[in-house]
Amino acid sequence: MRTMLRCDETEAWAALRGHYEAHGRDFDLRDAFERDPGRFESFSVEAPEVFADLSKNRIDSATLHFLIDLASECGLEARRDAMFAGDAINTTEGRAVLHTALRAPRGAGPFSAEVHEVLDAMLAYAEAVRDTAASGIKHVVNIGIGGSDLGPQMVVPALDTFVHPGIAFHFVSNVDGHDIAPVLRRLDPAQTLFIVASKTFTTQETMANAHAAKAWFEANGGTDIARHFVATTTNVAAAAEFGITTTFGFWDWVGGRYSLWSAIGLPIALAIGAENFRALLAGAHSMDRHFAQAPLLKNLPVLLALIDVWYRNFHGFTSRSVAPYHQGLKRLPAYLQQLEMESNGKRVDLDGNTLPYATSPVVWGEPGTNGQHAYFQMLHQGTDVIPVEFILVKHPTHDLADLHAKLLANGLAQSQALMLGKTTAQALQEKAPTASKQLDAATLAKHRTFPGNRPSTTLLLDQLTPTSLGALIALYEHRVFTSGALWGINSFDQWGVELGKALCNDLLPRLASGDTQGLDASTASLLRRLRG
Ligand code: F6P
Repeated sequence: MRTMLRCDETEAWAALRGHYEAHGRDFDLRDAFERDPGRFESFSVEAPEVFADLSKNRIDSATLHFLIDLASECGLEARRDAMFAGDAINTTEGRAVLHTALRAPRGAGPFSAEVHEVLDAMLAYAEAVRDTAASGIKHVVNIGIGGSDLGPQMVVPALDTFVHPGIAFHFVSNVDGHDIAPVLRRLDPAQTLFIVASKTFTTQETMANAHAAKAWFEANGGTDIARHFVATTTNVAAAAEFGITTTFGFWDWVGGRYSLWSAIGLPIALAIGAENFRALLAGAHSMDRHFAQAPLLKNLPVLLALIDVWYRNFHGFTSRSVAPYHQGLKRLPAYLQQLEMESNGKRVDLDGNTLPYATSPVVWGEPGTNGQHAYFQMLHQGTDVIPVEFILVKHPTHDLADLHAKLLANGLAQSQALMLGKTTAQALQEKAPTASKQLDAATLAKHRTFPGNRPSTTLLLDQLTPTSLGALIALYEHRVFTSGALWGINSFDQWGVELGKALCNDLLPRLASGDTQGLDASTASLLRRLRG
């Protein structure tokens, strides 16, 4: 049951509507910087491991003031405290939401004894496997999907320089055999460790891939399933039935998309080792403390979420693009898609009332500079305004200084270009050697005009380390929590994935039998074509 005001019932919401009409709709970033030489200082925030420049967003101090009022009226701090305390804030499943407990220091936070018992056991196991001379393991295959895949799949390449050089990591998620088949082709059963990662241990894709791996293992002379298969799950009994004896458990209060800090992080621990895994947890914990303690006006996850709400509900922006200027973060956009869109892609409030306002934006992106040569055209000159989030890392872990300088200059240039744009008058004065000579100058200048005033946020990390990555991920988790809390939705269930699963179970036998009775004409015809 909802005990707090919903955002649209607050005075701040009405004030924001008025503020948007008076100052928001026509807000111009260039004028704002012109008017206020201290704008960068006023709208930048230092959080643990992450510095954020928010000044290229369409906000002024009044906007932030009203947004903070909104957070207060919606009881954000009480909601946040309830999450940390372990209240059952996932109301539709009657569960607590305690991923923060997974990274709390020993003795602190709820369930500390259980959490640290599993953590210690998992890290000891990881260290034993990392002793490759003794374990004989050279390949680790993580079989999982969604939250049981995307976290480790994102973190392992992000921390590439910390990864054990003698072990190759593979991630299999799709039920498409084109995913697992090429991985298995390159493996030797005697040198391979399979991790079956599934909170429920019932997910169709994961179980199908796990059975395929087991069949391959046995068919290729593999012996000792107990040594070469390990499970990370809350369903220990099902893992045992599969034949797995080494299992690292976790709890129903860890949501799939918040689970990389739990046993689901085993591939990460195998890759970077116990000490670095603990540093990842410590980085996340430092962001937890910041979220729990910093005043709202200096609280980075809160500020990012407030700007998200401002853009989504007042400006009407429908998506946000994430541009990590670090190749290691190439899977971050995919990870954030699940985190944000599975959490906040909801259309009813906590009482089940249909919402009269928008919730999760589409989150998408690619590492810079690849995105620049693909879809940035649309970001600069398309008809939609899409806020962009740049992630820049000051110090690389390679010594190719020339490349790194170019990477950083590209990132800075893009946020600058989005904001400054180029007027038609400027375009008229420029030479355009590749332009058609048939076209008159005025028409050409219109094609070469950039509207500018396109907002962006820049997040700066000093280095990409386990600690800073932990803090960055926790920053995103708390931002998603905050916008979900303001929207009055349950960010911790995912009923939207159920219908497709049920229909798939109905269609699977029909693909074999050809029975199309009761199907809509499109699905029936497609099924017939697929069988023909
Ligand atoms: O897609 C739905 C979902 O339940 C995700 O929330 C979850 O991360 C994923 O499936 C995998 O579930 P499991 O870990 O139980 O296999």
